[in-house]
Amino acid sequence: MVSIIITGRGGAGKTTMTANLGAYFAKKGYRTLVIDGDLYLPKLAFHFGIYNPAYNLHTLIKNPDMRVVEAVYHDVKTGVDVLPGSSRLYDVLDLDQKRLRGIVREIQSGYRVTIIDSPVGIPFDTISTFRLAQYQLIVIEIERCPIHTVHRMIENEVMKLKSLGEAYGLKVGVVINKVRESSPNVDDIVDFLEATVDVPVVGVVPFDDKVPEATNYGRPLLDYDSRARASKAFSETGEVMNEWIFGEVRRERGNPLRRLYNALLSLLTRRRVPAGKEF
Ligand SMILES: Nc1ncnc2c1ncn2[C@@H]1O[C@H](COP(=O)(O)OP(=O)(O)O)[C@@H](O)[C@H]1O
Ligand SMILES: [Mg+2]
Repeated sequence: MVSIIITGRGGAGKTTMTANLGAYFAKKGYRTLVIDGDLYLPKLAFHFGIYNPAYNLHTLIKNPDMRVVEAVYHDVKTGVDVLPGSSRLYDVLDLDQKRLRGIVREIQSGYRVTIIDSPVGIPFDTISTFRLAQYQLIVIEIERCPIHTVHRMIENEVMKLKSLGEAYGLKVGVVINKVRESSPNVDDIVDFLEATVDVPVVGVVPFDDKVPEATNYGRPLLDYDSRARASKAFSETGEVMNEWIFGEVRRERGNPLRRLYNALLSLLTRRRVPAGKEF
């Protein structure tokens, strides 16, 4: 059971990344949930063609008697489960953060992968859920500006979010999004992030007009057009995340000696039911 929080500045591509990473993990066979943690301007559900859902994270927060599953929508084509937000202003006022954490804690236990989309910048809305996650993915957008300005921008932006994540014990990675032909040299930026800022870069996604096109259509790009350039990059990012998160487990399971050891250990430690008392 793993939860990933997606952070970054406004417009960097957090919501798009949440939808597409969700689609990637679901396609890989993981039971996957995406949660719209942008409580003020929720947009995640649009990526799955869900508009104005009657039951949502806000109604759950406001109605403690409601069952959490009532606000979860299943996207049949991708297999992703979606917990959307409400865009009505009335629903946004007076939200109890503790209740939000309780809801996320309860619902995530039924999923192998939970991805939480965040509001802009320091995610005050969802900070209470940081304690429930293990990974943080910071999405950055590289602007067309001189490289030293890029370095300063990255340091300023990524360092803050990285420190925040680390304060909660999260493993932190970065995705560079909207890379254009005219963007500053990406290798240089990757080097800077890994060597100086000390965060791994888990994905580089090109600017691709198909991204907004898919969203307007109400689909994650991976489902709308799996051959689009950005789709390939989303998949590659998913693969890197998959290996990062589950690689260790798979390697351990895959090692025959380790498997034998685990099997013996579970035999020895299994609770025995006295004869005649099996049930
Ligand atoms: N790789 C990309 N190529 C082109 N447009 C993109 C890309 N990623 C995101 N966008 C567009 O940028 C805008 C902001 O993306 P969004 O995911 O909503 O950002 P955030 O959630 O960080 O505010 C949207 O219009 C989206 O379609
Ligand atoms: Mg967003």
